[in-house]
Amino acid sequence: MIRGLRRIAGMEAYDTIVDDMREITTDSADFEHIRKHNLLYVDKTMYAYELIRSEARRFFFLSRPRRYGKSLFCSTLHAIFDGRRDLFTGLHIAEHTDYELTP
Ligand SMILES: Nc1ncnc2c1ncn2[C@@H]1O[C@H](COP(=O)(O)OP(=O)(O)O)[C@@H](O)[C@H]1O
Ligand SMILES: [Mg+2]
Repeated sequence: MIRGLRRIAGMEAYDTIVDDMREITTDSADFEHIRKHNLLYVDKTMYAYELIRSEARRFFFLSRPRRYGKSLFCSTLHAIFDGRRDLFTGLHIAEHTDYELTP
């Protein structure tokens, strides 16, 4: 639909961008669900890596207001510790760190 309208308006150049756009979720804090359905995920795995590698690693308090991504971040950590390599393709922790994503 959007594609067609853009073509009519002579804006073919934007088709690629529109085709690459991912769906945004506002109601899933399930990392596996977001990745498996190719929904937009803002990569926060660099922070997960920092946290895992941190020296002061006994307790962490995520002091952010509601809807700031705490639950999704925890779900991401869960997937990391489960070694779900299949879910991290293209994300920072898999591509740019030495972290071994193994079950
Ligand atoms: N890194 C992210 N990438 C994409 N969407 C996100 C991200 N973090 C949070 N969201 C979206 O924001 C919503 C609220 O996040 P959530 O983890 O439930 O917040 P909190 O637990 O802090 O209340 C999620 O359901 C998800 O749709
Ligand atoms: Mg929450």
